[in-house]
Amino acid sequence: MEHVRIFDTTLRDGEQSPGCSMNLKEKIEVAKILEKMKVDIIEAGFAIASPGDFESVRTIADNIKECTVTSLARCAEKDIDTAWEAVKTAADPRIHVFIATSPLHMEYKLKLSPEQVLEKAGAMVSYAKKYCSNIEFSPEDATRSEPEFLKRVVAKAIECGATTINIPDTVGYTTPDEMRALIEDIKGNVKGAEDVIFSVHCHNDLGMATANALAGVLGGARQVECTINGLGERAGNTSLEEIVMAIRTRQDMTGLSTGIDTTMIHRASKTVYDIIGQTAPLNKPIVGKNAFAHESGIHQHGVLANKKTYEIMTPESVGVNVNNLVLGKHSGRHAVGQRLEELGFVLTKEELDRCFEEFKIVCDKKKNITDADLEAIVTHKTNAVYQDEEGGYKLDWFQMSTSNFTTATCTVSLEKDGEKVEDVALGDGPIDAAYNAIDAIVKPSEHSFDIFNIHSISEGKDTLGDVTVQVNAYDRSFTGRGLSTDIMEASINAYLKALNRMISYEKKHGINEGGESPAKRISAKD
Ligand code: KIV
Ligand code: ZN
Repeated sequence: MEHVRIFDTTLRDGEQSPGCSMNLKEKIEVAKILEKMKVDIIEAGFAIASPGDFESVRTIADNIKECTVTSLARCAEKDIDTAWEAVKTAADPRIHVFIATSPLHMEYKLKLSPEQVLEKAGAMVSYAKKYCSNIEFSPEDATRSEPEFLKRVVAKAIECGATTINIPDTVGYTTPDEMRALIEDIKGNVKGAEDVIFSVHCHNDLGMATANALAGVLGGARQVECTINGLGERAGNTSLEEIVMAIRTRQDMTGLSTGIDTTMIHRASKTVYDIIGQTAPLNKPIVGKNAFAHESGIHQHGVLANKKTYEIMTPESVGVNVNNLVLGKHSGRHAVGQRLEELGFVLTKEELDRCFEEFKIVCDKKKNITDADLEAIVTHKTNAVYQDEEGGYKLDWFQMSTSNFTTATCTVSLEKDGEKVEDVALGDGPIDAAYNAIDAIVKPSEHSFDIFNIHSISEGKDTLGDVTVQVNAYDRSFTGRGLSTDIMEASINAYLKALNRMISYEKKHGINEGGESPAKRISAKD
């Protein structure tokens, strides 16, 4: 069976989209999951975009051993030098060079003639080739480029040493028939095409990213660029889970396979959503809560008689557990550890100890602990997004007074570096009062408040509340999460974590200490 390479760009195309910024710890966590999932190539970032991006690409290159690691670079020597500097220690480094080839982009964005673009593409692929044998070239906005010119550029890139040619549908404009025909045309009519791997990179503006990627594969592409949960510019990219499960579920038609361990899909999706402070829409294919739910009587009857009546893939195949076992305060460490193992968690002894400690605390407040609770506890105790920033503010205690006929008042005591500070504030409701009291102590820099989400982990009024707060400053987002059966406590912890992250970013970039403000990040669309 022929292999389709999975090129994951969650950490580049995904991360550069609004509300999806990740810090270094989180990017490493995602890269590790991608490695475990067995993706072939990780696009770790756009190294020249900012010093932070450079550092994360380099750290991922240093730490990931089982995947190719690449950085994006424009057709400019400085970009390529920086990309190489960042990926050169990878087990299998790649440089990904791109330049736009559509009339609109060449005239208005690049202000270059087609001949100049052709010359630059060749020269910069040759330049990158001096560093690295593994070179990917992308003619940006390929699907709106003149086909004959596009083929000349692709031929030039191949002649100069590109080993993978990626065809991006940058603005999600194309249709499946067109995508398939385009790949077939290029493969059939460009000199040297038989010696390189063709790739597709589809955006989802018209909701056709997965269909277009699959069509590209049917046309002969053997690499697909995609992201976890379909994150990415505007409406996003082809989602990894959709394209991988489409190739697998319709192997009868594609005759192809990927190397992905699909049982990691659920975990990868959840981790990425946790980091960016979102949850999957209920009906999202593969990873939404309802993706495998059968609500109507007719469907339930069919599924009970034979699962295949309404199920084209099993929940287990994407790592969704359907046997909801309930644990409680009499369950021991061994039972909890075993259940976690069955749920697919591989924890170190220390992580299991921390999770078991939290499990016992939750048991005091909640009678039955479901798999969803257990999953939330592990995520809370092991995911980077829940962790405290070193030296940050921590909640000592809070006291709240609220009613439907008085203004809410909250007193908060916070601890930082062994010192305790307390303040009191009024607010339009208890959360506003608590956040005002926190602001009075922390005095954070100006920020917008973009997301405040509370969701319950399981059913029942004693459920764990999972709170996400996202604040925005310096053109990036800072997310904090809090988990507790007391939603006020969870809300306070979530806000503190988001603020701690913003403060730690400021420290790192010398902001508020008379230093430089951080350089604006360059994005691939600039
Ligand atoms: O959408 C696009 O064209 C891209 C390229 C830089 C590959 O992301
Ligand atoms: Zn893109």
